[in-house]
Amino acid sequence: MSTPIPQPPGVPLLGNIFDVDPNNTWWSLKTLAEKYGEIFQIKVLGHRIVFVASAALAEEICDEKRFRKFVGGPIVEIRYAVHDALFTAFDNEPSWGIAHRIIAPQISPEALAGHFDEFLQCTDELLAKWQGLGSGAQIRPLNELNRLNLEATTLTLFGKKLNCLEGSEHPMLQAMEDSTSEAMKRPNRPKLLNWLVHGSKFKKATRTMRSFAAELVKQRQEHPSDRRDLLWAMLNAKDPETGKPLSDSEVIDEIVSMPIGSSTAPCAIAAGILFLLQNPDALAKAREEIDGVLGDGPFKQEHVSQLHYVAGVVRETLRLSCAAPGFNIEPIPKPGDKSPVLLAGGKYQVPHNQAMIIVLAGVNRDPAVFDEPLAFRPERMVGEAFERLPAGVKKWFGNGKRECIGKHWAWEFLVIVMTKLIRDVDFEAVDPNYQLKQDGWFNIRPIDFSVKVKARAR
Ligand code: HEM
Repeated sequence: MSTPIPQPPGVPLLGNIFDVDPNNTWWSLKTLAEKYGEIFQIKVLGHRIVFVASAALAEEICDEKRFRKFVGGPIVEIRYAVHDALFTAFDNEPSWGIAHRIIAPQISPEALAGHFDEFLQCTDELLAKWQGLGSGAQIRPLNELNRLNLEATTLTLFGKKLNCLEGSEHPMLQAMEDSTSEAMKRPNRPKLLNWLVHGSKFKKATRTMRSFAAELVKQRQEHPSDRRDLLWAMLNAKDPETGKPLSDSEVIDEIVSMPIGSSTAPCAIAAGILFLLQNPDALAKAREEIDGVLGDGPFKQEHVSQLHYVAGVVRETLRLSCAAPGFNIEPIPKPGDKSPVLLAGGKYQVPHNQAMIIVLAGVNRDPAVFDEPLAFRPERMVGEAFERLPAGVKKWFGNGKRECIGKHWAWEFLVIVMTKLIRDVDFEAVDPNYQLKQDGWFNIRPIDFSVKVKARAR
C-alpha cells in the first residue's frame, strides 16, 4: 500500500486555488513545502500537480532513465516569445539538439576564460558608479545587479557594450519582467481573459525583446568583426551532427533566451550580499582568502579557481537563495503502459503522466542532509564536504541534458562579481532587521532590500 500524497484541504470546485498566490507562486510553494515536507500535491480546477521537496526524492526524479523535463505551464506560454529555443523546446523537437551543439562550446569554461576582462570591466564600472554616488550612498542591490547582468551578458555573448549601468533602465529589463510574469500567470487564467485583457502586455514585451535581439544581429552584420563569440557561432556555425545552421528566427529566439536565463544570477548575488551581512565571520574569511590570493595586484582569470572559500560562498548562496526556484519533471512515457509510477520504493504512487515540480526551497534546506539547514555556512560547500553532499541538493542549475547551458557563464559572473564586492565594498544594511522575503517569476529575488555602500576601509 502506498502512502497518500498530502494535499491542503482546498475549497469545493476550485480546489487549492487559494493555497497559491498568483503574484508570488514560489513563496507559496516554499510555505507549503515547510508544512507538508518531502512531497505534496495541489489540485486547481481538476488539474493535479505534484511537488517534490526533499533531496532524496529530487535525486530519484532526476534519474534520466525514468524521468525527463516537463515542458508545460509557464514554459509553454513563454514559447510565444522564444518558440522552440533551448529552454522551451519539447523533448522531441530536433531544434534543441541543433542549438545545444552550436551554443554549448561558446559558453564552456575555456571560452569564458577569454571573456574575463569583459566581466571585470563591467563590474569595475558598477563599482565606479557607486563610488560616484558618494560614501554611504543607498542602493538597491537587485536593481544595480540586474543592470550589471544585462551589460555583461550583452558584452560577453554578443559583443555589444550597452552602457546600461546608469541612466534610465534599459527597456529589456522591464520586457523580461513583463513577459515572464505573464507566462507564469496565463496558465491559471481563462483563455479569453488572457487574450482580451493581458494579451497586449505580452505582445509588447515580446516585441521589445525580439527587437533588441534583431538589433544585435543587424549591428554584427553591418560591422563584421573577427570576434568569435556566441553571436558569431549562432550566425555562422553549423551543427556538427546534422550540418544545419540556426535560422534567422532561431537566432533571435536563442538571443532572447540568454538574458532571461541569465537574470537569475543577479537575484543570487543580491541574496548573497544579505547572507554575508548577516554572517560577518564568513565575510571576514572570504576577504582573508581574496586578499591572500590576489594580494595588492590586479584580479586575474587564474585566481578564479584558487578562491575555494569564495566558491563555497557562491554555492551556499545558490543553495539558500534558490534563485532559480525549481524545475519541472515528468515520467518518460512508455508506449502502451499506463501503470502508475512508484516513488521512494513504492511509498508513493503517481499517475504514469504526472507532472511534478521540484521545489528547491524544500530540497536545498532538507534537514535530512543539512545540520541547521537555514544557517549560511560556506564551509559545507568546500572541498570534500561539498563532494560528500548527495546529488539531490546540488540541483541549482537543473538536471541532466536540460541542465542550465549558462552554468559556466553564471559561475564566472558570480565568482568575479562576489569577489570584487567582497574585496572592495563595505555594505551596511539600511534596515538591520531585514529578513529575506522573495518574489519573482522564473527566478526569485529579495524584496525591498537596500544597502548603503562605501569603499572598503583598509
Ligand atoms: C545563478 C544563475 C543561474 C541559475 C541558478 C540557473 C538555473 C537554471 C535551471 C534550474 C535550469 C533548468 C530549467 C528547466 O529544467 O526547466 C536552467 C536552464 C537554462 N538556463 Fe540557466 N541558470 C542560471 C544562469 C543562466 C545563464 C547565465 C544563462 C545564459 C547565459 C542561462 C540560460 C539557460 C538556458 C538557455 C536554459 C535551458 C537549457 C536547456 O534546456 O537546454 N542560465 N537554468
